[in-house]
Amino acid sequence: MRRMVVVASLKGAPGATTTALALATRWPTVASDPASGEVPAGVRLLLEADPSGGDVAAWRGLSHSPGLLDLAGAVRHGSDPGDLIARWAQSLAESGASLVAAPASAAQARAGSELLARASFAAVRASNEAAVSGVLVVDVGRLGPVESSWASVADALVLVTRGGVDALAHVAAGIEDLKAAASWMCLAVVGPCPYPMAEIARTLGLDRVQHLPWDPDAVDAIRCGRSPRRRGRRSLGAALEELIREVRRHIELPGAARQIELSPPSPLGGIDKGGRR
Ligand SMILES: Nc1ncnc2c1ncn2[C@@H]1O[C@H](COP(=O)(O)OP(=O)(O)OP(=O)(O)O)[C@@H](O)[C@H]1O
Ligand SMILES: [Mg+2]
Repeated sequence: MRRMVVVASLKGAPGATTTALALATRWPTVASDPASGEVPAGVRLLLEADPSGGDVAAWRGLSHSPGLLDLAGAVRHGSDPGDLIARWAQSLAESGASLVAAPASAAQARAGSELLARASFAAVRASNEAAVSGVLVVDVGRLGPVESSWASVADALVLVTRGGVDALAHVAAGIEDLKAAASWMCLAVVGPCPYPMAEIARTLGLDRVQHLPWDPDAVDAIRCGRSPRRRGRRSLGAALEELIREVRRHIELPGAARQIELSPPSPLGGIDKGGRR
């Protein structure tokens, strides 16, 4: 079964889409199998479900169709059993990953993402079950009621924030609800931060807080699908690899697959369901 990782933010534009794109395109193409050694890791998909509109098609010079609206339309008509999400994806050529692009228009993107979130987690689950393996990274943008319901049905939530005191205060204010809703979550702190990551993790009660260094060149490379010029232990590329390793460690554990809730999101924000962290 394909695993689902939701990437979200709480405030500002901290780098959620950049992180989601990096997760999908840098997710390993092979997985280790105790019986047969290395096996293909399956299709890697990025689904843009940010109701404020998509960015990746513009970054990569792709069309918005096939994309989120086609997927939402197919779900609404109850058509296309099987791996529905992959059917509406376009290739992100350099990586072997694929993109289900949201339209740039916020009104259209909101309609598509709400339709998917409210009516069709069953379709998302069926699509993930139809795939033997792989990962679906969903960029939901800033968490509101509908986006939180995505977080509550994922195998992992990666919450992206800037590292300033103000941004972290927003995270601290919402973290308990998110921990209760998400199967497992971690925090990615982008750019300068006055606190050590271990201290943030301890304070917020998270088992992982990953720093993502401020690195405009590397971000440019991720967006364009190039290899970054700067490598090394402290580069953004290395930090993203650590983040991917940590997420995989949690979601690929035997029995880690999340039972997707079939009910519509709660009016309280969809983050009141109990769950493992
Ligand atoms: N690690 C980083 N180093 C340097 N710049 C970064 C980094 N991460 C993100 N940025 C910059 O932050 C800005 C926002 O990035 P991005 O579009 O990924 O954020 P977002 O949270 O998806 O925003 P939005 O709310 O617009 O969807 C961009 O200008 C991007 O170049
Ligand atoms: Mg974004």
